[in-house]
Amino acid sequence: MIVLRGFDPDDIETMVRLVKETFGKEYSSDLFFEMGTLFPEEFITAFDDSELIGFLMGALTSPKEARVLIFVIDGEHRGEGIGTEIMSTFLERCRSKGIKRVRLEVKTTNENARRLYESFGFRITETLKEYYRDGNDGYLMYLDL
Ligand SMILES: CC(C)(COP(=O)(O)OP(=O)(O)OC[C@H]1O[C@@H](n2cnc3c(N)ncnc32)[C@H](O)[C@@H]1OP(=O)(O)O)[C@@H](O)C(=O)NCCC(=O)NCCS
Repeated sequence: MIVLRGFDPDDIETMVRLVKETFGKEYSSDLFFEMGTLFPEEFITAFDDSELIGFLMGALTSPKEARVLIFVIDGEHRGEGIGTEIMSTFLERCRSKGIKRVRLEVKTTNENARRLYESFGFRITETLKEYYRDGNDGYLMYLDL
């Protein structure tokens, strides 16, 4: 059974690995610790029993705006609705805090993720040329809450 939980420093190692496997990027443990400590309610993890299978790292960037920084579900569990559940929870929390706008970026080639975002009402506002380290362009997307 899938359950959503919060940030726990004990999970950082798994999160670093998941990000490395998915995006090929090696983030430092400190980033996870800092964001999880600063924005515990905006850090949502998903577990299959005791196994961490995905998470969303969000941040409040102003009293009215939030941002999605990292969003990933383990390859074996994609397309099962877990990402949708995490995003719903994140947006509910943003709404309850009076957040008016949520920002994120997505690779222009990442249609699965973009479709998911569009299903929540996110709209592309700008193309970010060579936003990603591999030279790919990104879309800047916003959702008005
Ligand atoms: C994007 C991501 C977090 C979405 O999580 P998820 O649990 O797979 O999403 P869901 O199962 O809730 O799917 C939501 C929609 O996207 C589609 N989808 C997303 N990922 C999919 C996949 N790998 N295979 C098939 N469909 C997928 C689903 O069809 C679904 O659309 P539908 O409801 O119209 O059928 C996850 O696919 C992922 O980690 N992808 C790789 C990393 C990534 O791209 N992160 C986002 C960077 S901006």
